[in-house]
Amino acid sequence: MPDLNTVVAEIAAEMLARPDRGDVATYIPELARVDPKHFGIAVIDAQGEIAAAGDAETPFSIQSVSKVFTLTLALGKVGDRLWRRVGREPSGSPFNSIVQLEREEGVPRNPFINAGAIAVTDVILSGHKPREALGEILRFMQFLADDETISIDKAVAESEARTGFRNAALANYMKSFGVIENPVDYTLGVYFHHCAITMTCRQLAMAGRFLAHRGKNPTTGHSVVTPERARRINAVMLTCGHYDGSGDFAYRVGLPGKSGVGGGIFAVAPGKASIAVWAPGLDAAGNSHLGRIALETLAKRMGWSIF
Ligand code: DON
Repeated sequence: MPDLNTVVAEIAAEMLARPDRGDVATYIPELARVDPKHFGIAVIDAQGEIAAAGDAETPFSIQSVSKVFTLTLALGKVGDRLWRRVGREPSGSPFNSIVQLEREEGVPRNPFINAGAIAVTDVILSGHKPREALGEILRFMQFLADDETISIDKAVAESEARTGFRNAALANYMKSFGVIENPVDYTLGVYFHHCAITMTCRQLAMAGRFLAHRGKNPTTGHSVVTPERARRINAVMLTCGHYDGSGDFAYRVGLPGKSGVGGGIFAVAPGKASIAVWAPGLDAAGNSHLGRIALETLAKRMGWSIF
């Protein structure tokens, strides 16, 4: 078995040296300022040992990676009734697509495309003020990562709120079908802010450990979800976590994973490790270009593909 620390250090050196870095997201003005030269990786094994390299301690905007955790929270609140408000099929469409919503009566295909994540946020918001719902999401991240320093980058949230016309269109459209229950502005406000949570690769890998270990953090013994729920969240990540790049990610990497336009990817090697990578340059589908290559290399060298 190759040494994990050596493999992680080699991958970071290889990724930092590559000239092909993809393009940073520019549709959220604040994200356009991030340097595409960054690369970070953190891997936490079943014993809690951390292998990290590159910019693993640099905070970045987790964006859509937050959707794994809002899905977990919403399932905790309403259980399988959530699936009346959102589907669990891959969309085969870009993350911000609106076309399927008309045909499917305002019910988004899955919780990871923007429309689906906005519907999930609406479920978490119900019965609360926006500030309370956001506090709940942030505290959940801090609890999972065992780190109270995790925070929200207000500049990123405001930057997206100013320019998020398409998300506003998706939310209003769903509202017209009754899929959004709260005032659209409230739901969008919570959505923009949870996407603007800032974390390091190490914090993100810590936060997701329960998904690698049947719902439980093996170090603290905290049970976050049942083994069955962890398996199902991982299944949705595998099939939908990279939008219309999900098939290619499963083909190349072979691990459940969730990407964000900040360039982060969280991935799970079931029973083995919780993984976070960050490289801000994206491919055409809006997924981290070098992040995907790094995970493909890691899975291959460690023999971690689930297939
Ligand atoms: O709603 C948006 O467009 C962003 N807050 C998040 C999108 C995202 O991360 C999609 N990822 N590839």
